[in-house]
Amino acid sequence: MSDSFTSATAVPRHVAIIMDGNGRWAETKGQPRVMGHRAGVKSVREIVRVCRERGIEALTLFAFSSENWSRPEREVQLLMRLFMAVLRRELNDLHENNVRLRIIGDISGFDDKLQQRIRAAEAKTAGCDGLQLNVAANYGGRWDIAQASQQMAVLVQQGELSVEQIDEQTMARFMTLADQPEVDLLIRTGGEKRISNFLLWQCAYAELFFSSVLWPEFDEAAMAEALSCFGGRQRRFGLTGAQVTNNL
Ligand code: IPE
Ligand code: IPE
Ligand code: MG
Repeated sequence: MSDSFTSATAVPRHVAIIMDGNGRWAETKGQPRVMGHRAGVKSVREIVRVCRERGIEALTLFAFSSENWSRPEREVQLLMRLFMAVLRRELNDLHENNVRLRIIGDISGFDDKLQQRIRAAEAKTAGCDGLQLNVAANYGGRWDIAQASQQMAVLVQQGELSVEQIDEQTMARFMTLADQPEVDLLIRTGGEKRISNFLLWQCAYAELFFSSVLWPEFDEAAMAEALSCFGGRQRRFGLTGAQVTNNL
C-alpha cells in the first residue's frame, strides 16, 4: 500500500491543531479568560513532547487568528504579553530538544519588540532538524492565499512568471509551509466544528478530528486518541475504497 494512504499504524507526518476552549475553561472555574490562555501553555508543552516522541515531522498550532484582534483590547494585550513571555521561556528547551520553530502569519501586525523576538527565536532554532513546530499568529487562511497571489503578481509584473504558469503547483510554492508536507490531521479542541480560517489551502485533504476537550485539558491521552483515530481512517484522495485497498 502506498504510504500516502493510511493504515492502522500510520503516523501523520503533519498535524495541525486549533487550540480552542481556553476562555471557557477559565470561565467554568470562575477565573478571567486570560487564565485559560496561561493554562493552555502547559498543553502546548505536552503536545510538542508527544509529537517529538511519536516521530511526527511537523506540528502547526493556531495561537492567534487575524480575527482575534477584534477581541476586547485587554485580552489582546494579555495574549501578546503571554506570547512574548512564552517565546522567552521556552526557547532554550525547544532548542535543546532539536525543535525548529517558525511563526507563520502576518508578523508585520505585531509591535517591533515582538517581531524582533520572533526572528531571534527562529534564528536560534534554524539549525534544528527534529520536530518542525509552526505557530500561527496573526494568521488567516485567506490572508495566506492572498499573500501567495501577491507574490505571484509581482513576478508576473517583472516578467519572471507568465499567467499560464499559474496553476495549483505554482501557487503551492508561494503558500506558507510550502516546504513541509501537507496537513494530514487537523485537530480542533473545545467542541466547535469549524475551521475558523485556519490552513485552508494546506488542509485540502486533511483528516478532521474534533474533540470536546477544552485546550487546557488536552493532554497526552487526548492526543493519543486523535492519533489512533487517524490510524483507523482510510484516506482515499478521490479514489474508490477498493482501489485503495488493492493498491490499484
Ligand atoms: C483559543 O481559546 C485561544 C485563542 C483564540 C487565542 P479561546 O480564547 O477562543 O477560548 P473560548 O473558545 O472562548 O473558550
Ligand atoms: C480559532 O479560535 C483561533 C485560535 C484557536 C487561535 P476562535 O475561538 O477564535 O474561533 P471562533 O471565533 O470560535 O470561530
Ligand atoms: Mg474560541
